[in-house]
Amino acid sequence: MLSCCGRRLLHLLGLSFPLLTRRPLFLCPHRLMKPLVVFVLGGPGAGKGTQCARIVEKYGYTHLSAEELLRDERKNPDSQYGELIEKYIKDGKIVPVEITISLLKREMDQTMAANAQKNEFLIDGFPRNQDNLQGWNKTMDGKADVSFVLFFDCNNEICIEGCLEGGKSSGRSDDDRESLEKRIQTHLQSTKPIIDLYEEMGKVKKIDASKSVMKFLMKL
Ligand code: C5P
Ligand code: MG
Repeated sequence: MLSCCGRRLLHLLGLSFPLLTRRPLFLCPHRLMKPLVVFVLGGPGAGKGTQCARIVEKYGYTHLSAEELLRDERKNPDSQYGELIEKYIKDGKIVPVEITISLLKREMDQTMAANAQKNEFLIDGFPRNQDNLQGWNKTMDGKADVSFVLFFDCNNEICIEGCLEGGKSSGRSDDDRESLEKRIQTHLQSTKPIIDLYEEMGKVKKIDASKSVMKFLMKL
């Protein structure tokens, strides 16, 4: 079952789930109480961040970036996980899921405690691997519903070019060609199989991200 915003988002993207979208929301009021989640995945440079910002502006989703939550937690002097997160991010490794889920869950709980109607979340950069997925299924089963996965699919070479251009202004240390190639390999080895699993469940909506990256490159 998709929420009203979920249906509007799919409509905007030119996609729809005709059979799943017809039942009015008032027939299942308990849904209002559970977080409804759209996972956003895609390789480096596919423009997920930019697109998420647009979706939030237009549809009022709450955007949660796994990476940003981890980076913020790392800076929190009171956090018991700060050092561990620092080490994982530095090594480009995926942080153990218990930590990432606790941060995601805390944000979702706080958002909904402040306003129960704000139960729609775009979770960006998650689940990145099997550990992330298993942790989500174990912890969130019955507590949140995953509407679908938005997959920003991007031709590797175009994404690398986009990142290299973007990196000139962002100054990110992992936006050089060698690091980008490694991050693309990690995406293909660890994250793509997760997208394939959701695809088998008919829950993936694929966006051709090369087009928007091309547009960005042409404006430069
Ligand atoms: O998504 P991206 O590769 O830019 O994320 C940067 C870093 O954030 C990763 O290399 C990883 O250390 C951390 N991360 C994580 N778990 C996630 C998403 C990001 O550990 N689900
Ligand atoms: Mg990132």
